[in-house]
Amino acid sequence: MAEGQSQESPKLQVEAAGKAFEQEFERFQRFTGDSAHAVHLSLREAEAEQRSLAELRTRHFGRKSALAACKKLIGRVSPDERAAFGQMVQQLESTLGQQLEHAEQALSRLVESARTERESIDVTLPGRRPRQGHLHPITLLRERIEDIFVTLGYAVEDGREIETDFYNFDALNIPQNHPARAPQDTFYTTDGFALRSQTSTVQIHAMQRRGAPVRMIAPGRVFRRDTPDPTHNPMFFQVEGLCVDRGISMAHLKGTVAEFLRRMFGAKTVTRFRPSYFPFTEPSAEFDFSCFKCAGQGCRICKNSGWIELGGSGMVHPHVLRAAGIDADEFSGFAFGLGIDRMAALMYSLDDIRLLFENDVRFLEQFG
Ligand code: DAH
Repeated sequence: MAEGQSQESPKLQVEAAGKAFEQEFERFQRFTGDSAHAVHLSLREAEAEQRSLAELRTRHFGRKSALAACKKLIGRVSPDERAAFGQMVQQLESTLGQQLEHAEQALSRLVESARTERESIDVTLPGRRPRQGHLHPITLLRERIEDIFVTLGYAVEDGREIETDFYNFDALNIPQNHPARAPQDTFYTTDGFALRSQTSTVQIHAMQRRGAPVRMIAPGRVFRRDTPDPTHNPMFFQVEGLCVDRGISMAHLKGTVAEFLRRMFGAKTVTRFRPSYFPFTEPSAEFDFSCFKCAGQGCRICKNSGWIELGGSGMVHPHVLRAAGIDADEFSGFAFGLGIDRMAALMYSLDDIRLLFENDVRFLEQFG
């Protein structure tokens, strides 16, 4: 205790100690006063208040506090004043002590409840709904095509994306010097292997594995060395179809393709065949169907022709049957192939086929 202070009247010193406490303690009154229930603190705030209250206690109740000094004074005041003075000091100590204790209790309750609040889970809150994904538009279309052919009695075949020369070319009646073998047509990997440029390769696998009769479709990816533009992509999807049995004729081909397109685009859909050439079919034909948008009247989608070109087809070439180990004198068959992405682009009026491969969810979300 400073010398000067000890000269002051002991009573004044006690009063001063009380006042100093009251002044600092005032801001903690809100935790014990009438409106204490309305006080709401975050855990961090409540803990900070708790710390400053602990500091306040040290300042006013510690060994170096004004109160401690007053207690020491008790022995020094004149004996006739001592009892009264002692009581005064004790009185101060107990009032301040009570106030402090109340505030400390209130604050520790606040800290407790802030802690519980932070850790509690409100079970009545709605959960976070997992975002539901959906299939890619090409997959959706592929599945529709598969469904139609499965109901017509076709199996769905899985093919390989990397093929040997035999399946890609030789077996499909594409001889060594045929232009379809040109390096710019597909991607060659190591010698003798190439990414398949058409799903027709699966015809050979299917006939080898299943023999005849056979009815199958083979959807899948194909690759060509095309520069991407709004109507080309170096990777795209096709569906191949093959039906081999005794007595299969062009009539079966036409009936099957027409029925498929009616189920796909509506009962009024008309199909037409145009003579064409493919190495693996003889005779060969390309097929078109009446525009699903304008029903043949002519519109933007069918470029005013009323028709949409869809794929190639024909009677399986005897060379192909034989290459796959089928007796071409006993069996005949038809085959067809069409592009799924081209069909998707038309159905969804996409002006750029590459949208289907960019995997931009803002685009894909529209097909959910
Ligand atoms: N593979 C041909 C292409 O990619 C399409 C095709 C034409 C498939 C005639 C066939 C077919 O099965 O018989 O252009």
